Amino acid sequence: MQTNPTRLNKAVIPVAGLGTRFLPATKSTPKEMLPVVDKPAIQYVVEEAVSAGLLDVLMVTGRNKRPLEDHFDRNYELEDMLLRKGDTERLAQVCASTDLADVHYVRQGDPRGLGHAVLCAASHVGDEPFAVLLGDDLIDPRDPLLARMVEVQARYGGSVVALIEVPADRIHLYGCADVRPAGPDGLVRVVDLVEKPDPGTAPSGYAVIGRYVLAPEIFGVLQRTAPGRGGEIQLTDALRELARCGEVRGVVFEGRRYDTGDRAEYLRTTVRLACERTDLGEDFRSWLREFVESELRSPQSVGG
Ligand code: G1P
Repeated sequence: MQTNPTRLNKAVIPVAGLGTRFLPATKSTPKEMLPVVDKPAIQYVVEEAVSAGLLDVLMVTGRNKRPLEDHFDRNYELEDMLLRKGDTERLAQVCASTDLADVHYVRQGDPRGLGHAVLCAASHVGDEPFAVLLGDDLIDPRDPLLARMVEVQARYGGSVVALIEVPADRIHLYGCADVRPAGPDGLVRVVDLVEKPDPGTAPSGYAVIGRYVLAPEIFGVLQRTAPGRGGEIQLTDALRELARCGEVRGVVFEGRRYDTGDRAEYLRTTVRLACERTDLGEDFRSWLREFVESELRSPQSVGG
């Protein structure tokens, strides 16, 4: 067993994607800025990193991503206006994203896949383990997956992926892990990985979701990883090499995860989180009940 003396404190968030599934909304707005209730999706992800103790956040950005930088920066005019009005509640909301973490940016000039995005973080990260969070997956803060992955990495070294079990007809949408049992609490050894396996060829039903804790050795492997699925440099392919050397573990996650990269799931997430909000939930839930009842009475109607 290796132990890791360095406290892991860096998170890498690739945000260079074009967000084509949400066009036209994403024509000039980064998909990461789309609100889930009233907070941009990216802020939930940064909050998750921070609550796992990762205060140094590097966003791997691209063209049209300036609003992300603005969101995590000060907005003096707005702050001044709210201060003069004495609106301390909104002022606190505006400052929350600025004060959250130490956010850095690097541009992925030529988007050549997730593996390439992670490679762009190499000089910022250096020779330390680090986390990667993909913005399309939101993990409910009541189910602290990332903190658990950080713990596993600190205990065993190597790299750690997050896995969920998915039905056979959905595994081709994910990286898929071949695993062996490794211990209690959903910990497994990953012996092989395949990026988006062709239907009928998946080695298991375990899908890799968008949370990784990676050993710095991944950078050397990524440098020599050839383009794979979709002609892109795949993080899964680099991890496969480490998995075959016994250097990858998996944490099987059974908590709440919301896939905001898919339009229908995005809508479900917004509804679910709105219902749980202390300020909005009560009114929203009673409207929703009425809406569902009217839908059940006459499915064609559109509730108002
Ligand atoms: C990426 C990874 C894939 C992983 C997925 C999780 O795919 O390449 O292995 O299962 O994220 O969300 P993407 O969804 O970006 O195509």
